[in-house]
Parts: sequence; C-alpha cells; structure tokens
Amino acid sequence: MVKPEPTRDQRLLIHNLVRRDPLTGLAEDVRKGLSAQPKRFLPKYFYDELGSQLFEAICLLPEYYLTRAENEILQRYSDEIAAAVKGQKTLLEMGSGSASKTRLLIEALLRSQDELLFMPVDISATALESSSRILLQSYPRLRIEAFAADYFAGLAELGKKPRRRTLALFLGSNISNFDTDEANRFLRAMRSVLHEGDALLLGADLKKDRTILEAAYNDALGVTSAFNLNVLARINRELGGTFDLHAFRHRAFYNEAAGRIEIYIESVVKQTVRISKLDLEVQFESGELIHTENSYKYDMAGIARLAEATGFSHSRTWFDSQERFSSNLLLAA
Ligand code: AVI
Repeated sequence: MVKPEPTRDQRLLIHNLVRRDPLTGLAEDVRKGLSAQPKRFLPKYFYDELGSQLFEAICLLPEYYLTRAENEILQRYSDEIAAAVKGQKTLLEMGSGSASKTRLLIEALLRSQDELLFMPVDISATALESSSRILLQSYPRLRIEAFAADYFAGLAELGKKPRRRTLALFLGSNISNFDTDEANRFLRAMRSVLHEGDALLLGADLKKDRTILEAAYNDALGVTSAFNLNVLARINRELGGTFDLHAFRHRAFYNEAAGRIEIYIESVVKQTVRISKLDLEVQFESGELIHTENSYKYDMAGIARLAEATGFSHSRTWFDSQERFSSNLLLAA
C-alpha cells in the first residue's frame, strides 16, 4: 500500500517558550530605562505588532538598502552557500520573522536533498505560526520544528535536540543591534549548540559613507521615525503613559569613531510624562535624548575578530554587487 503524504499539521511542531506575562518585562525595563541617566529603552520593545509591521515597511524603503542587498546575495549564491556545508543538512534560523529570505536557502537545500527539517527560533509565536504555514504550503518536502522563544532560551532548547549536520542562519544584520559583548555572548551560545562541521551564515551590514548610512535611518517617508516613536505609543497603550508623540522626534546619526548608527528619541520641549501603571512621573529637558538603538556596521577585520573570539573560523564572504552588505560563512571550528 502507498503511504499517504504527511499533512501540513503533521509536518509542523511549535514549542512556545515565551514568558507568560510579557507586560512584566516591559514595565520593569521601562521603569529602569527612564530612571537611568541618560535615559534609554531596549530595542526589543520596538517589535510589538505595529512595530513589526513598520519594520517590514522599512525593509521596502528605497533608502534602506540592507534587505535588498542581502536578498541579492541569497538569490545569486544560495546554491554555493548550501554546498559549502557538506552532506544532508538541517536548517536552523535565529530571528526568522517572516522568513521571506529563508525561502531562497530552503529551495537551494531542497535541490540537493530529498527532505529538509527547518528549525526557526523567533520571539513572536504568531509570526512563527503564519510563516511556518506559508512555508509548508509551498514546500511539501519540508518539516518544521519551531521555537517561540528569545534567542538564548531557543538555543538552550535546540541544544537538546539531536540534529543532522546544521546550517544556521542569522540574517538581516540582526547582529548589528548587539554591542560587542552581546555579539560575543550570542555567537558563543550559538557555537555551543553547533557541532564541528556545522556552519553559521551571518548577515552583516558594512561600514560605508555616512550619507548612505544616515539616509537608511532617516528615510524621507518617515517610516523609521514612526518605528522609533512607536515605543512611546506602545508605552501609552500598554502601560497607561501620557507621551505626546508630537512633542518628541526621531534622531539618527553615524558615530564613525564607534562604527555605529545611534538612534534616539529627542524631547522637543521641557515636559513631564506620567505612566500610570508604573505610578511614575518622568521629567524631560528640552533637547534631552532617550537612546533606543545602536546599529553597528562591520568590516572584514571585525567579522574575523568576532568569529575567532567565539569558536568559529571565518570561511567565506559573499557580497552584493555594490559591496554594501556581507553574508559570512563561519565554520564551527
Ligand atoms: C533589525 N536591525 C538589523 C535593523 C537595523 O538596521 O539595525 C533595525 C532598524 N532600526 C532602524 N531601522 C532598522
């Protein structure tokens, strides 16, 4: 008798490891950040439902070249990338989001093997659920075991699962939003779940002329500004804040000495804001900045240093045609 094909549901397993009460984390971090000097928010709070959609819109902006450049690399070289890791492989991805770029690697892998297990880790269970269903519909030879979790919890879980040879992905220059210590800690944790012969494809935006960099974070349509200020709107929505969004503005510039774009929210006037759920009143001076994000830009020496410090060897780099972005294959040494 012919065995029936497994259904889409039989090919999907989602582990939900996200903390039950996400409000507690936001409340604690907002209180800490607004009491600090200088004031700051953590970039992970950009990504509520609206913030995630705004980020998807950023990726379509003419000034935000990063997504298109990485897409170009994966369009052109995904077969080469897949072949750089020998044998039948499992595909793993940290921060998979909508997984649109991942399709190119899934297709490349399915050209050289009969079936594929894809193991994505993402903080958003809804993004995982919807991207997984779409992928399974497109690829009948694909199975998915997904982890809704932050990076470290996801890696701890992945470490317990026996896997084939693995190609791991960390795309979109997500590494850029970590400072050096965090980037090292993340890559070491990544390395600890990989075995010798496995590899990590690391997307990293490159240092370049400041006009190109600053335009990418100060787009003419104001989408990046909306993405940044949405953190204030989120605090209003979720924590009962009274931020007047017209009294704050988006600021982003390239700090060349530090090799990073720095993103802030500036208070346009001297003002007081209340956050009822925190029972907190915060004073802002005119011109005072809240730091919301850094986006580090890399060069090849920086990538090699990062790889070497975290137990990888830097094997190859692919560039887009304008050499704005790099996709780096790091081998588990
Ligand atoms: C997600 N990350 C790589 C983006 C970046 O370019 O650093 C986040 C971003 N912030 C403003 N625009 C895009």
